[in-house]
Amino acid sequence: PPSLSLHPSQGVSLGDTVTLRCHLPQLAARVRLCQEERFISCMYKHQVQNTAEFSFVSTSKEHAGTYRCQYQVSEEWGAWQKTDPVELVVTDSDLPPPAVSLRQEGCVEMGTNVTLCVETRTNVTIQCRNKDKGTSFLLHKDGCSAPVQRQDPDGAGTASFTLLAVTLADSGTY
Ligand SMILES: *[C@@H]1O[C@H](CO)[C@@H](O)[C@H](O)[C@H]1NC(C)=O
Repeated sequence: PPSLSLHPSQGVSLGDTVTLRCHLPQLAARVRLCQEERFISCMYKHQVQNTAEFSFVSTSKEHAGTYRCQYQVSEEWGAWQKTDPVELVVTDSDLPPPAVSLRQEGCVEMGTNVTLCVETRTNVTIQCRNKDKGTSFLLHKDGCSAPVQRQDPDGAGTASFTLLAVTLADSGTY
């Protein structure tokens, strides 16, 4: 089957260029990249060997979403082979930082940073709040390139991240 990869793989900031590469197992008469949410139109390439590359500048948050690449061996012959979906995350650095709170007892030091000491196997919940109710939240851990978790806010604009039964490996800065 064909496969789709995202570069940079962790998503982009608004205004950055993103590239989606569709890797094809055979010569394709037509390749298309479509967003499942259909905020943006499908993009096409013709007569592609190996790799079809689709690049664009993520100028709006509507570029965020789920993409699939599809290809057709012959333009007359209908079947489209499709890849697994890939999610593009678009971050907006102009948003104000979210308010963060912890729903835990523990040795907490306030300030710009909150330090929490818990025993292993405890569930830790981190809540993030923002005035812009349409935005999703990503929880990052220092030293990891990929977000640890992603959450959409509830009706009040709050997202809750829960780290279940933490282990020593969960220690660090989030
Ligand atoms: C942690 O959360 C899980 C899943 O919600 C629950 O089954 C478990 O009892 C919780 N553990 C503690 C110590 O609260």
